[in-house]
Amino acid sequence: MVGKTISHYRIIEKLGEGGMGVVYKAEDTKLKRTVALKFLPPELTRDPEAKQRFVHEAQAASALDHSNICTIYEIDEIPTEGRDQTFIAMACYDGETLRSKIQQGPLSLDDAISFATQIAQGLQEAHEKAFAAASLQPDKLAADIGAGTGFITAGLMDKGLNVIAVDQSAAMLDKLKLKFPSSDKIDCRVGDAEMLPLEDNWVDYVFANMYLHHVEDPLEAIREMTRILKPGGKLVITDVDEHEFEFLKNEQHDRWMGFNREDIRHWFIEAGLKNVFVDCVGEKCCTKSSSNGESVEITIFVAKGEK
Ligand SMILES: C[S@@+](CC[C@H](N)C(=O)[O-])C[C@H]1O[C@@H](n2cnc3c(N)ncnc32)[C@H](O)[C@@H]1O
Repeated sequence: MVGKTISHYRIIEKLGEGGMGVVYKAEDTKLKRTVALKFLPPELTRDPEAKQRFVHEAQAASALDHSNICTIYEIDEIPTEGRDQTFIAMACYDGETLRSKIQQGPLSLDDAISFATQIAQGLQEAHEKAFAAASLQPDKLAADIGAGTGFITAGLMDKGLNVIAVDQSAAMLDKLKLKFPSSDKIDCRVGDAEMLPLEDNWVDYVFANMYLHHVEDPLEAIREMTRILKPGGKLVITDVDEHEFEFLKNEQHDRWMGFNREDIRHWFIEAGLKNVFVDCVGEKCCTKSSSNGESVEITIFVAKGEK
């Protein structure tokens, strides 16, 4: 590849290689700037699912504009040497990866704090996108379904909302309560997806982050979350896109291997929601298998609908 010109990019050198792509440094010959090009590996170019994941990755990152998230310039497909080459063109950053820095020895405390802060700022941007989808207003009432230890609850409370946190696990809710010991803006309730402990037409917003892939019947769970929304209220679900990592079922008690975005859109409509959209949240879920140590990255979608 080095020395070749693909579209208007002249390949300069190989920068690295991973399961989902080979990355090259290249010159954009039109704009006269250095870019990074990530190619889908040749053996995956004929796999529609791999291609779809590659496109989702580009869409997810391009949905965000933040100094700690790589800027995406374009995604394109070019016939090269008898086959289509799919690639993402993105900003090229000089310097070392965090992985290679860590391999050289322990980070100084200042460096570790600085890197952790930069990563957190990038993630925060992604969650803000999910909250922005609901156009949150302070003092309204939100339900956080499958609240766990309160990741979404904390974000909603920061924005001045009152929150009812629901989870099937009392132990999770006990941990959540410890985070907000004296708040009167939170109400924790043990309850199940198919019979939420809330009245009909009760809350302004329902959030469910990384919950749907655990429930037995996702359509029923969406119907139940819709039931508790006031007319005009909004349901926002963030969860993982369809993937093929079976080990998550055994190791993390996932019931569903992510979701097809079209299914989610249809289920929202079947549940009676309108103004439905499903989009990239701009964040990846990274997890590791405890049995074989395999690291995986899965893209995340945000789905919004209005009652
Ligand atoms: C992966 S955690 C996500 C926690 C939290 N939403 C977050 O974003 O950090 C999934 C949560 O859903 C809860 N859960 C799973 N199935 C459920 C069900 N059928 N009814 C209620 N809660 C459920 C689990 O107890 C767990 O706390």
